[in-house]
Amino acid sequence: MKVAVTGKGGSGKTTIAGTMARVYASMGFRVLAVDADDNPNLAITLGIPLEKFEEGKPIPTRLLVRSSTGLRLLMKPEEIVRKYSIEGPGGIKLLIMTKIERAGIGCACGSHATVREIIHHIVPGPNEIVVIDMEPGLEIFGRATPKYANVVLAVAEPYFKSVVTAVKIAQLAQDLGVEKVYGVVNKVRSEDEKNLVLKVFERYGIKVLGFVPHDDTVYTADKYGYAPIDYKPDCNAVKAIRGIALKLLVDMGYVVPR
Ligand SMILES: Nc1ncnc2c1ncn2[C@@H]1O[C@H](COP(=O)(O)OP(=O)(O)O)[C@@H](O)[C@H]1O
Ligand SMILES: [Mg+2]
Repeated sequence: MKVAVTGKGGSGKTTIAGTMARVYASMGFRVLAVDADDNPNLAITLGIPLEKFEEGKPIPTRLLVRSSTGLRLLMKPEEIVRKYSIEGPGGIKLLIMTKIERAGIGCACGSHATVREIIHHIVPGPNEIVVIDMEPGLEIFGRATPKYANVVLAVAEPYFKSVVTAVKIAQLAQDLGVEKVYGVVNKVRSEDEKNLVLKVFERYGIKVLGFVPHDDTVYTADKYGYAPIDYKPDCNAVKAIRGIALKLLVDMGYVVPR
């Protein structure tokens, strides 16, 4: 499966995408993580040291060309992964969409189109999972970057504007034809908050895959630049994300070892 994690800025996309990728890798899946945020920081949540991330090259946009039959990638996705990914814990391969290293270098349209087409042409085997950490907000749907994911997670924090954004995202993902669209609620502090958000998602017919509690451990791990799953693998947030990752596998028809 190809899972795109979306939501408002700061909702917890990277925390959830990175931790899910690590959970799947620890279960023996071959995981490709794609950092599709123009301010890439998924590497940190995956547990990849900053120096290694800094050495990593983003995917060159020249790999995507327009031909008479439409857009075409000049390399097979597997070759792109081999050539441009950096390796993380558990053998996770990380592709970085872009690094904006100088001001005034132009828009990121080419980078989005390249990532969209790579996701399009990757066909994960039964033992392979692609997790994509998306840019915040709605513009990615205008660009159709998540079009070829087959799962979209719309992450919301338990406050009104965040949930409204997540609902909008879920609807746009459905418009794009994404097979499975779920809400995920992060930073939950009480049952009351859970129920409030659940009601909004349910009103729009969006299934909620799970809830992640507000957990200071995540914030502390971030403060020092650690992956939450390395900093405290049994903290409440990591446990909840592990549960969500497993639930998704079951929903998608994978056989999950007990
Ligand atoms: N469950 C959680 N509990 C506490 N803090 C969290 C939780 N999830 C994320 N955070 C914090 O929220 C901030 C934004 O998280 P991040 O995953 O980077 O969001 P996004 O990728 O959506 O911008 C970070 O400081 C992170 O440590
Ligand atoms: Mg992020």
